[in-house]
Amino acid sequence: MQLRVVTDQPWDVKADVLAIPIVGEPAFDGPLGELNRRTGGELAALAAFGELRTKRFTSSVAAPGEVAAGRVLTISAGDPANLDRETVLHLGAAAEHRLGGRHARTLAIWLSPLAGVLDGGVDAVAELVARGVVEGTFEPRTLYRDHDDIATAPPVLDELILIAPGGDAGAVQKAGERGVIIGEGANHAKSLSNRSANDVSPEVLAQEARDVAAKHGLWIDVIEPDRARELGMGMFLAVGKGSDNPPRMIVMRSGGEGEKDALDRHLAIVGKGVCFDSGGISIKPADRMEEMKMDKIGACTVIAAIGTVARLAPGTPLLAVAPAVENMPGSHSTRPGDVVKALNGKWVDITNTDAEGRLILGDAMTYAERLGATHIVDVATLTGAVSRAFGHLITGAFGTPQGWYDDIMSAADRAAERYWQIPLVDDYVPEMDSWYGDIQNAGSAEGSLVKSGLFLREFRTVPWAHLDIGGSGYFRKTTPWAPRGATGVTHATLVELALAGAKA
Ligand code: BES
Ligand code: MN
Ligand code: ZN
Repeated sequence: MQLRVVTDQPWDVKADVLAIPIVGEPAFDGPLGELNRRTGGELAALAAFGELRTKRFTSSVAAPGEVAAGRVLTISAGDPANLDRETVLHLGAAAEHRLGGRHARTLAIWLSPLAGVLDGGVDAVAELVARGVVEGTFEPRTLYRDHDDIATAPPVLDELILIAPGGDAGAVQKAGERGVIIGEGANHAKSLSNRSANDVSPEVLAQEARDVAAKHGLWIDVIEPDRARELGMGMFLAVGKGSDNPPRMIVMRSGGEGEKDALDRHLAIVGKGVCFDSGGISIKPADRMEEMKMDKIGACTVIAAIGTVARLAPGTPLLAVAPAVENMPGSHSTRPGDVVKALNGKWVDITNTDAEGRLILGDAMTYAERLGATHIVDVATLTGAVSRAFGHLITGAFGTPQGWYDDIMSAADRAAERYWQIPLVDDYVPEMDSWYGDIQNAGSAEGSLVKSGLFLREFRTVPWAHLDIGGSGYFRKTTPWAPRGATGVTHATLVELALAGAKA
């Protein structure tokens, strides 16, 4: 898809579809009045009829009249008082999503109504809208089937035109291109995540990572079970041993070994890669077990994110670690009550084999520190509890020290992603005590979300944050801006966090 910026008035832009953002109650004066006049009063008539509504992400399609585009699409942004970066991002995605099954090759979006309201003006809007449109083109139903066989798939665009009358075309173009690249990275994460477990084994995920590394000139090391045993990755191996598909510890790096970035960090992003989580011997109920092919989203996200960072700022120091396993029951599986030694030397009592994510992440974080990580962020579909607490629109987050957590939230604001902080309550640590080991991997159910963070905290010594995407990582049903399946969430936050340390 090509991106083009024009500074013409929206009615003069030739495209298959012209998208017109409606912010608040439309007053048909100024340029919107001109668009209304050229459609023969159709926009105002649709509004009066109740077809053009102002509720966020509602839309209507009108004939163009004297407007140069083939069709006019109104897409509402809701109350301007609540217009934030996430709304603008989702508005771009909603416009593309709304065109599912329609014949459109070129989409033009008029940025001015949004640029007048959003902090950061037209450049910020260009980046977010472009990213949104790219993300809106993602369609999981075409992963295994042809695009043309899916009647309502969003159209494949040849060109996205950003309309910025009076804007600095060069600056808007640059901002838009940044958005396209971040959107493409999120789509890469979503494609990998949505693939089924009979398709993506730990080795297949490792091969995907090798492809990313080869494409962007990144260093990669894939640790197989023999070497993991020599190193002492007892928690990682304990989870992987029940499956005929052997585990892989995937390690990727841009920049030099241990190299510090412009913020004096050697940042590591660590992603949970459970290609299928049956629960193991502590097996899960059958209801919705098929969703557990999504338990690798964290790994897919960090693999995609390091690729995106390499595109936007090649050479930026960054480490990505993705422990990939299948959690399966069988005669080789870890049993509840097995005691294993973690890479950092702690003895861990595996009281529940379904609390496997924290086991593989713990060893992955220790390994990241061995490779010189000074700051760690992990991303994981770690708990069901986080989705019960926060639903699908918010990622639960932990972090210590607070300053590091706050750095990540600044990146999250730029990325237009929502998080809510969960406390690490020291007083609950004794509830994870074990008779036979230093700690057990699953304490009592009370406060289990807090305890999941407390467990992970034991396996790092540097500033660390944990992003639990158990709710936000994938949608069970479609929304106006996204299909069901993996959402790509946290990709943009990780990219912004890493890019903050890009060297000039
Ligand atoms: N992968 C699951 C968490 C999950 C469940 C994510 C549903 C998304 C949707 C994780 O490995 C798990 O099983 N967690 C357990 C932990 C418990 C045994 C302490 C959970 O949340 O029930
Ligand atoms: Mn589990
Ligand atoms: Zn899991």
